[in-house]
Parts: sequence; structure tokens; C-alpha cells
Amino acid sequence: MSPAGRWRPLSLVFLLGMGMASGDSGCPSGCSCRYLEVNCTGRQLQEFPAAIPLDTRQLILAANNVSYLPAVELSFLADLVYLDCQKNLLGDDLDFTFIGVVKLVYLDLSFNNLTQVTFSTFSQLLSLVVLKISDNPNLVAIEKDAFANNTWLRHLDVSRTGLTFLDASTVQVLPNLRILGLSDNLWHCNCSFLDFITWMTESSVHFPDADNITCYTPEALRALKMPAAEVQLYSSCQTHLHKHDYIFLCFIGFCIFFAGTVVAWLAGICAVIYQIHSSKEEEEEEEKDAVT
Ligand SMILES: *[C@@H]1O[C@H](CO)[C@@H](O)[C@H](O)[C@H]1NC(C)=O
Ligand SMILES: *[C@@H]1O[C@H](CO)[C@@H](O)[C@H](O)[C@H]1NC(C)=O
Ligand SMILES: *[C@@H]1O[C@H](CO)[C@@H](O)[C@H](O)[C@H]1NC(C)=O
Ligand SMILES: *[C@@H]1O[C@H](CO)[C@@H](O)[C@H](O)[C@H]1NC(C)=O
Ligand SMILES: *[C@@H]1O[C@H](CO)[C@@H](O)[C@H](O)[C@H]1NC(C)=O
Ligand SMILES: *[C@@H]1O[C@H](CO)[C@@H](O)[C@H](O)[C@H]1NC(C)=O
Repeated sequence: MSPAGRWRPLSLVFLLGMGMASGDSGCPSGCSCRYLEVNCTGRQLQEFPAAIPLDTRQLILAANNVSYLPAVELSFLADLVYLDCQKNLLGDDLDFTFIGVVKLVYLDLSFNNLTQVTFSTFSQLLSLVVLKISDNPNLVAIEKDAFANNTWLRHLDVSRTGLTFLDASTVQVLPNLRILGLSDNLWHCNCSFLDFITWMTESSVHFPDADNITCYTPEALRALKMPAAEVQLYSSCQTHLHKHDYIFLCFIGFCIFFAGTVVAWLAGICAVIYQIHSSKEEEEEEEKDAVT
């Protein structure tokens, strides 16, 4: 049986199910189509193209001006495994965009205008192996559990973004990670980042372009390569007490002082009461002696 025979009945079911008129033989205008592959590279598209064959497995929208991916139209492409959207204007909120393309294995969103990645952005992509979100200069935040569901992720690239911080647990949960792009970000090497740097030294993951993975702040660590910064960071984070540590120590000191005062005071009272009591007894005994 030829592969075509396998895919056609599937898309037919889709057509009937959704009552759509467009066939699976068409090709979006301006794009070039090959077997199960649609290539719309560099066509100045402003929008996600209409009439993409429903059995498409590889969709290339690279180098256009697409600013929005419609989740519903994407979800019609239920067999999509490869989606290349690099060099577009995708931005703001991609949460739940990929909810219907659960078979996606390769996703390229580099050279766009992403601003943040949350758990809901990629949480449905349980088969994802390659994810490129590099060269998004406005990407400033990746949620701690952003990739918690992407357990097959093997290649992740967050180079040249606006990121200054990554939680170690974001990548620690990825058992299959082999390549992690981190270069040319303005990493903020504070004590919270120590866990991540320690993970870098201990993991077997490959970090491409390692010479350009450097601390940017604080000033003292500027341009220091990241795994090497561990030693400096470790010593400064372990020995230096913070302001709240001093406040805590003062508080403990005061508590001990206060408790000591109270104990001394109670002991004094007890001594006085005992004294009064015993002298009264003596007086009573003396009185008794006098009476008899
Ligand atoms: C898509 O088309 C562009 C030019 O139109 C070409 O350079 C590129 O190699 C094609 N990509 C694939 C995967 O065929
Ligand atoms: C697409 O975007 C580029 C750069 O952002 C711009 O130079 C070009 O004019 C845009 N093309 C269209 C058709 O809007
Ligand atoms: C990128 O996103 C930011 C913030 O959402 C926005 O202000 C800016 O205009 C966007 N840039 C482009 C080129 O779309
Ligand atoms: C995360 O993955 C689990 C299965 O591994 C799935 O049941 C759950 O729906 C996923 N979460 C989201 C928000 O998609
Ligand atoms: C370290 O920097 C990150 C990001 O700039 C910040 O969220 C975190 O609170 C900082 N941690 C400390 C201990 O200053
Ligand atoms: C590393 O950074 C330098 C300076 O920012 C840049 O010139 C160089 O191209 C970068 N190297 C790579 C491989 O990106």
C-alpha cells in the first residue's frame, strides 16, 4: 500500500466531519506544495494561509510577516509533525495556540517577537523533540514548569533572547535533553541562579557556542563564562549574610536576653516567697514554744 492510500481516507473523514468544502488536493496561493509538505517561505504573507491540505505533515511559513497563528485552523492539521515559523512577527500570547497539533515533533519559532512562555504554551505537545525559540529579543520570561509536559525534548534553543534568568527546574525535568542553546543572553548571575549554573556543570547536556554564555550582571562577574562563574558565585552566596539574616540574629539575641531576664526575675520572686514563708514558719514555731 502506498503512503498516499493511508492518508487520504483520514483527511476524507476530516472533510466530512467538518463539512468543509476545500479539498486536500489544493495548495495555498503563492506556496509550493509537495507530497504532505507545504512550503510558503518568503511570500510576504501577513496571515496564516487558508486552504492548507488537511493531511499536511510539514508546514514551512519561514520569513513572512505572520503575526498570529489561529489555533482552530492549526488544529485542522492534526497530522502536522513539522512546523517552521521562523522569521515572522509572532508575539504576545501563544498560550493554547498549539492545542490541536499534538503530534508536533519539530517547532521553530525563532526570529519572532515572543514575550513569554508559560506552561500553557507548549503543554499539549507531548511528542516535541526540537524547540527553537532563539532570537526573540522581547522574550523575558520562561515559566518554571514551561516544559514540564515536553518530556521528549532533545534540542532546546533560547539563545539571543531577553532572558536574564532561568530556573534550574525548568530544564532539570527534561530527561532527554541533549542540546541547550543559552548563548548571548544577558544572564543575571545572582544567588538564585547558582542552582542553574551548578546544574550546567553536572549535566551531560551540550551547550553550543559556550564561549558566549556569560554573566552580564552583577558588574563583578560581567563576561565571566557561566560554568566557571560557579566558584565565585558559590563563595559569595555561601559566606555573605543578608540583611534579613542580621535581623534574625538580632531577634534571637533579644529573645535570649529577654528569656534570661524573665527567668532571673521569677527566680528572685521564688526566693523572696520562700524566705517570707520560712521566716513565718519560724515565727509560728517560736510562738508555739512560747505558749507551751
Ligand atoms: C522552501 O522554499 C524555499 C524557497 O522557496 C527553499 O529555499 C527551501 O529550501 C524550501 N524548504 C524545503 C524544506 O523544501
Ligand atoms: C514585512 O516586514 C518587513 C520587516 O518587518 C517589512 O520590511 C516588509 O515591508 C513587510 N512586508 C509586508 C508586505 O508588509
Ligand atoms: C513586539 O512586541 C512588543 C510588546 O508586545 C510590541 O511593543 C512591539 O511592537 C512588537 N514588535 C513588532 C515588530 O511587532
Ligand atoms: C500534560 O501531560 C499530561 C499527560 O502526560 C496530560 O494528561 C495533560 O493534559 C497535559 N497537560 C496539559 C495542560 O496539556
Ligand atoms: C535573581 O534575579 C532574578 C531575575 O533577575 C530574580 O527573579 C531573583 O529574585 C533574584 N534573586 C535574588 C536572590 O536576588
Ligand atoms: C559571540 O559574541 C561575540 C560578541 O558579542 C560575537 O561577535 C560573536 O559572533 C558571537 N559568536 C557566535 C558564534 O555567535
